[in-house]
Amino acid sequence: MKVLEDLAALRAWRATRGELGFVPTMGALHEGHLTLVRRARQAAGQAVLVSIFVNPTQFGPSEDLASYPRTLERDLELCRETGCDAVYAPGPEDMYRAGATSFVEVGAVAEPLCGQFRPGHFRGVATVVAKLFLRAQPQRAYFGEKDYQQLQVIRTLVRDLDFPVEVVGVPTVRETDGLAMSSRNLRLSPSERLKATRIYAALQAGPSPEAAREVLRAAGIEPQYLELVDPDTLLPKPWPLQGRGVLAVAAYVGNVRLIDNLAFEGA
Ligand code: PAF
Repeated sequence: MKVLEDLAALRAWRATRGELGFVPTMGALHEGHLTLVRRARQAAGQAVLVSIFVNPTQFGPSEDLASYPRTLERDLELCRETGCDAVYAPGPEDMYRAGATSFVEVGAVAEPLCGQFRPGHFRGVATVVAKLFLRAQPQRAYFGEKDYQQLQVIRTLVRDLDFPVEVVGVPTVRETDGLAMSSRNLRLSPSERLKATRIYAALQAGPSPEAAREVLRAAGIEPQYLELVDPDTLLPKPWPLQGRGVLAVAAYVGNVRLIDNLAFEGA
């Protein structure tokens, strides 16, 4: 497996490959990421590239950029074991030219849910993903459905800007007690880790947002948002649910902000 530390190394490696499956990550890899890699491996004849880059432009000034877990050596080992062909792990100076002022805005789908509470977050995500797509030129890119709004933002980006990339959404991977796998889970204390399991329990009480809210209330969790939304536009869906809906939640457990979602089919 090749470790590519800058754009020049990535371009040189890319020139030697044909079809490429791409798994963009911020590292601190867990089973959720490895499932994306395995899914990419399934496409016959396709090389698999993982990127590891903690992207500063998607963190707000009061967010957890500094404390975001960084476990590069272990990540590389996991990528090697899972059969990645290469890992692109650039530093911030390789990714962003000093004084760069251009960003990608995707519009409405980035505004509700996390967009209300993390201004600029999806602009940072869309910008770095666009740059990564331009640099790596993948045929397919794999994203977890846990970050449901991010997946819709990236689908919109690809559609609106004509990226020749197939975006593959992969179902959320959960711990045995239901907690959605996330790099941020590493920062939960044992008691917070236990409390965090109530987030998925709440979603399972859906699709009624009130029933889900009740489960969170009983666990002492005040959600930042808990909304039943249209799966494509992410606009609120009225209750009772008709057709497809996604119940989406964000909540702090201690200092750790967790998100999760569950899809439902109404009458
Ligand atoms: O989901 C993530 O890890 C990040 O938001 C992504 C897509 C790698 C962009 O930095």
